[in-house]
Amino acid sequence: MSIQYDFIEACWGRPTARTPIWLMRQAGRYLPQYMAIRSKLSFLELCKTPELAAEVTIQPIDILGVDAAILFSDILIPIEAMGLELRYEPGPVFSDPVRDARAVDALRIPEVQDEVPFVYETIRLLRQELQDRVPLIGFGGAPFTLACYMVEGRGSKDFASIKRLMYQAPEVYTALMDKITETSCRYLNAQIDAGAEAIQVFDTWGGILSPTDYQRFVLPYSRRLIAALEGRGVPVIHFVKGAGAMLDTVQQAGGQVMGLDWYTSLGRARDQLGNKMAVQGNLDPAVLFASEAIIEREVRRILDENAGRPGHVFNLGHGIVPTVAPEKAAFLVECVHRLSGKG
Ligand code: CP3
Repeated sequence: MSIQYDFIEACWGRPTARTPIWLMRQAGRYLPQYMAIRSKLSFLELCKTPELAAEVTIQPIDILGVDAAILFSDILIPIEAMGLELRYEPGPVFSDPVRDARAVDALRIPEVQDEVPFVYETIRLLRQELQDRVPLIGFGGAPFTLACYMVEGRGSKDFASIKRLMYQAPEVYTALMDKITETSCRYLNAQIDAGAEAIQVFDTWGGILSPTDYQRFVLPYSRRLIAALEGRGVPVIHFVKGAGAMLDTVQQAGGQVMGLDWYTSLGRARDQLGNKMAVQGNLDPAVLFASEAIIEREVRRILDENAGRPGHVFNLGHGIVPTVAPEKAAFLVECVHRLSGKG
């Protein structure tokens, strides 16, 4: 029998003594302890060095007291294994973006265990080192967000290249999405094989499309990916940034937990989603720039909106900002535990 973690219980919609919390991007540049390691090697080298990747994964557990660890890696790691050269400046850059049928044909569906072994080695190491202290979350990008980076070549403001491909060459878009989805199914299932106890699917850019286009161009692939993880006994968290106006559609992708950004009210989202789906979120990351009194007020507001319903994992509505003071993040964690605790 595995032990009962508040985080895992909440993901399955079961009651917990207090509300569990972790922070998206909890390992990273706002922590001096991360910078000390990161100053010795590049981000990609860090991802590919299991001992050090495991060490920075554990840092926020020790420093903040969060209820879950998330594998230190990046959503674009399996894309490099598909054959695209990747670098970080510090945002990801593909020097040879995928723009036509020839480029899609050239992409490989990797044998993940052999081609990104460091991911699985890090997970195995972490399970040993964590010793059931907190559960370990594995993760990957949703096919659409991965396609955005592959086609744009880097972050974008208008996403003109991916939208042009979608509208002008839908068959090329489909072939690309099929390959990414197949890769992601293998990549995340192998994370579960290695010991990941929950999976988060990040769709950072899922909200840049109209609800109709989301349904047509994104949903089928996210649904296929999440369905491929079903029956493995681990909860799946689906985070689509900007999903507030189409929660009913996004819900059709499946998964146990809906990740919520801060553009949506947690109370209203829960009313819409019903009691079959748990939620995660939804504090504006910028609130960590505010005083402790304001942080506490915002925590209380979100807990009040949840109104004691089981199945709430507290989190930010997106990644922690690198210029935030670690003390504020630690205060947030303490505050969520204190205010949600029953005594
Ligand atoms: O949450 C965690 O602590 C686990 C680690 C993690 C990273 N990236 C480490 C990282 C996770 C879960 C991700 C997910 C990720 N990566 C997403 C989805 C979530 C989101 O934030 O929207 C996306 C879109 C990426 C792609 C990516 N990688 C971007 C856009 C960037 C640059 C952003 C930045 O912070 O400058 C990265 C680099 C990256 N990924 C860093 C870290 C710690 C910074 C690298 C460094 O210079 O040390």
